[in-house]
Amino acid sequence: MCGIVGFVGSEPAAPILLDGLERLEYRGYDSAGVAVLSPEGRLQIEKCKGRLAVLRQKLEEQPPMTGCAGIGHTRWATHGEPNDINSHPHVSENGRVAIVHNGIIENYVEIKEFLLHKGVRFRSDTDSEVVAQLLEYYFTAGADIMDAVYQVLERIDGSYALGILCADAPDRFIAARKDAPLLLGYGDGCSFIASDVTAIIRHTRDVSYMEDGEVAVLTKDGIAVYDRLRRPIEKEHHLVDWDVSAAEKGGYAHFMLKEIMEQPEAVRQTVAPRLQGGRVVFEELSLSPAYIKGLSRIFIIACGSSYHVGMLGKYNLEKLMRIPVEVCLASEFRYSDPLIGPDTLAIVISQSGETLDTMAALREAKKRGSHILSIVNVVGSSIARESDDVLYTWAGPEIAVATTKAYSTQLVLLDMLGLYMADILGRVPAEEYAAIVTALEALPDKMGAVLSDVESYQYLASQYFNHDCVFYIGRNLDYALGLEGSLKLKEISYIHSESYAAGELKHGTISLIETGTLVVALATYAPLFDKAVSNIVEVKARGADVVALTTESQRDRMEKIAPNVLTIPDTHPILQPSLGVIPLQLFAYYIALQRGCDIDKPKNLAKSVTVE
Ligand code: M6R
Repeated sequence: MCGIVGFVGSEPAAPILLDGLERLEYRGYDSAGVAVLSPEGRLQIEKCKGRLAVLRQKLEEQPPMTGCAGIGHTRWATHGEPNDINSHPHVSENGRVAIVHNGIIENYVEIKEFLLHKGVRFRSDTDSEVVAQLLEYYFTAGADIMDAVYQVLERIDGSYALGILCADAPDRFIAARKDAPLLLGYGDGCSFIASDVTAIIRHTRDVSYMEDGEVAVLTKDGIAVYDRLRRPIEKEHHLVDWDVSAAEKGGYAHFMLKEIMEQPEAVRQTVAPRLQGGRVVFEELSLSPAYIKGLSRIFIIACGSSYHVGMLGKYNLEKLMRIPVEVCLASEFRYSDPLIGPDTLAIVISQSGETLDTMAALREAKKRGSHILSIVNVVGSSIARESDDVLYTWAGPEIAVATTKAYSTQLVLLDMLGLYMADILGRVPAEEYAAIVTALEALPDKMGAVLSDVESYQYLASQYFNHDCVFYIGRNLDYALGLEGSLKLKEISYIHSESYAAGELKHGTISLIETGTLVVALATYAPLFDKAVSNIVEVKARGADVVALTTESQRDRMEKIAPNVLTIPDTHPILQPSLGVIPLQLFAYYIALQRGCDIDKPKNLAKSVTVE
């Protein structure tokens, strides 16, 4: 989704803005631009459709922008096609006010009509331009720029993170937020805004997170923040402890491959601090045993891959806790009048912590009295801040749009949470508890073993990269695992794929299986291995090419049935998907590589989906 960066200091803003925008590229975008306030008090704007390289080229072809205050933006089109004019920053008609905006101005049509009636001429098709034009309208009507900002915020509905540069207020810029992430960065003789911390981490680790309704005025000497009634407020400072190199490729061809390879270490970071003396310990949780014992139901709410983690969690939590678990897509949950209340725990899963649908679902569940426990990667993100309890995954920054290490850390954390609550409920026998803990301890090394040989995935990818339709089939945990395998393939290779519960295939979808159809058959869930074999035989009989994934202990049996067999080490059945997902990630990665796709930035996708 769109990215914002803003800077004011004593050195030229443009290179810092471009560097920040480069670090936001991973979020997904289709155009980019910057606005800088020149030393003579003139707004200089450059913006265009396409990659940042195009913007850089344009900037190099003109006299350098020397101003020390500026705002920059990467746009992911919602209102108005991706083109030069619809790119941000947007400038008011008299050229004195420039804005960058993330979010959606829901009442922009009404405001645009009002302004058109007043004779204002619009240039773009965007909702965002109304903010620039309305600012000019109030500003020229006699307000000072801060008055104008507050009048505009009063008038607009929807979500926004805004950076505002005004030629008549030099050496500063203004920021505002509602329902879209924006953070403030405190530098040495300079100040920043950014939609996510990766944009500014090279310059400062000292940040504050803006809250809804807040307005900030940034100068090189500091940042003043005001609430919605324009009262000054003190912001809490946070120290970002992410390693800068974690957001760089470090010799890998793609962030996705780097992040796949980082999974053993990421999972170790997630698990190790929470295993003490053979027990799962969550020091950060406020959930009381009495509350857990009073639970009638658990809801897991998420989108995309985080939802797939929830699908696996349903099987494991129900098995361990014997409490019904419902897994809901956040975008559906929020409008479903959900049957959720004080005796239901809502587990909200989000890597970014900023997914708008997930956030809205969280608020809905909270409004109905549910306790919100979130599993989040980005520290200080909106979902983390609005939850009653947060379990951080500690996966470090995930840059590739297609999630890998965040998924794996979410999954293991959810399994640990299930074990922890099941133990409080007295529903896990001691030997079972000990077996799962032992398996958790061994998990990172086993993940490392899967990653130590990528050649079989490269080979299979070379055989199947030109297929245009792939089915993933499996039962129980393997079914939920297939959902993630299929999504990985779709999003980075653009091959159409479906994931099916293997037993459901014969109720319709098997009609699509014909000679040469590729079926990835998942048979890692030991209790249903024989059933999985029957399904493989069924699709083979219809001519399918089968790639089977199973555990090492079943390799011999599987090799008698399937022509291509991939294996993973055996572990406790609950944790088997944590190993099983790695071959699926690698398979998707190498297929996308063979097809020459833009793996880290797949078309139409965004890392953090902050619009509905
Ligand atoms: O940041 P979140 O975990 O809330 O994001 C949810 C989905 O948008 C995300 O998992 C998406 O499906 C990824 N592209 C999957 O690789």
